[in-house]
Amino acid sequence: MSDHIIPYGRQYINEDDIKAVIETLKSDYLTQGPKIKEFEEKFAAYVDAKYAVAFNNATSALHTAAKALDVKPGDKVIVTPMTFAASANCIRYCGGEVKFCDIDPETYLMDINRLKEILEASPKGTYKGVVVVDFAGYPHNLEEFRTVCDEYGMWLIEDACHAPGAWFTDSKGNKQKSGNGQFADISIFSFHPVKHIATGEGGMATTNNPDLYKKLCHYRTHGITKDPALLHKNDGGWYYEMQDLGFNYRLTDFQAALGITQLARADKGLDKRQKIAQKYDEAFADIKDIKTPQRAEDIYHAFHLYIIQVPDRKGLYDFLHDNRVYAQVHYVPLHLMPYYQELGNKEGDLPIVEEYYQHCLSLPMYPTLTDEEQEYVISKVKEFISK
Ligand SMILES: Cc1ncc(COP(=O)(O)O)c(C=O)c1O
Repeated sequence: MSDHIIPYGRQYINEDDIKAVIETLKSDYLTQGPKIKEFEEKFAAYVDAKYAVAFNNATSALHTAAKALDVKPGDKVIVTPMTFAASANCIRYCGGEVKFCDIDPETYLMDINRLKEILEASPKGTYKGVVVVDFAGYPHNLEEFRTVCDEYGMWLIEDACHAPGAWFTDSKGNKQKSGNGQFADISIFSFHPVKHIATGEGGMATTNNPDLYKKLCHYRTHGITKDPALLHKNDGGWYYEMQDLGFNYRLTDFQAALGITQLARADKGLDKRQKIAQKYDEAFADIKDIKTPQRAEDIYHAFHLYIIQVPDRKGLYDFLHDNRVYAQVHYVPLHLMPYYQELGNKEGDLPIVEEYYQHCLSLPMYPTLTDEEQEYVISKVKEFISK
């Protein structure tokens, strides 16, 4: 059993995916063709949003979201420190300043009470927006965050890279899917191979706001338009104008074709992730030195990651790697990165996330993880803990 590496996450590519990509490679369009639109429409329907805009990765989508929301040099934005660097970097790309807000010790999501403390400590208008992350696949209650954002006149970006298919229950008892555009201004998804849906590199932004939708499309393609209604003049059928400084952040059609077949299996993948989580939960239930992820009846956890906390995390990490189980740490808190320390952050600023970081470890979690492999992982974790 221990003869091959078991990673913490991996893609699942099947014959449907391969066929779809090959068909698109043989078609007229490798990029800017019909597969992009199809993927966008199917993805928007999947998360219950009005609009979806495909990007070449989630980092580009985050950058474009920040630009669409008009983040300017010096604008202050509140971000969770428990995330991948891109969730905060998108603000920096636009010259904005990042203020980190500590996390809830049970869900590991941005703590709304800490957010309120930060907001109450400064005059209204100090902060322009908030970036929350549905970390590990645990969906934020965005209704609560929207209320706070509205009170302070702030926009809200939901980084839902870990959470396609997740939902929370709102105050009226309705299920609200991550990225459905009801509460966040823009939500972002990633299609990196360790995520639920893989296109190699790839990302998506969703919104219900038609103006933001137009801006996301506009900045994705150089800030160029051919729309006759928007042109300053019109020299003829070929004529286009670059009206703003945009980017080339486009996804290709063959990646979109892969995204479409992957999306069709997304719910099956989620089911499998639930079963894996359940099995880990049961295996570790009676072990006091293992803290398993928070569970709640009123949310659906997308389980991008299955994170445990243990007293000797480094010991367990090394032991598992020696036994070919490539568990991983998510994440080194962002405020402790040298780049963000140079901007004035330091150890001790955010005690809850720093404590979490000392103990967290992500165990293998992906739809093709076999029972045998999972049992091996569980046995190795138990072996180390009982030493
Ligand atoms: C929470 C989060 N945000 C953003 C990103 C960036 O995604 P991408 O690699 O598609 O640019 C990631 C990817 O790891 C992520 O986990």
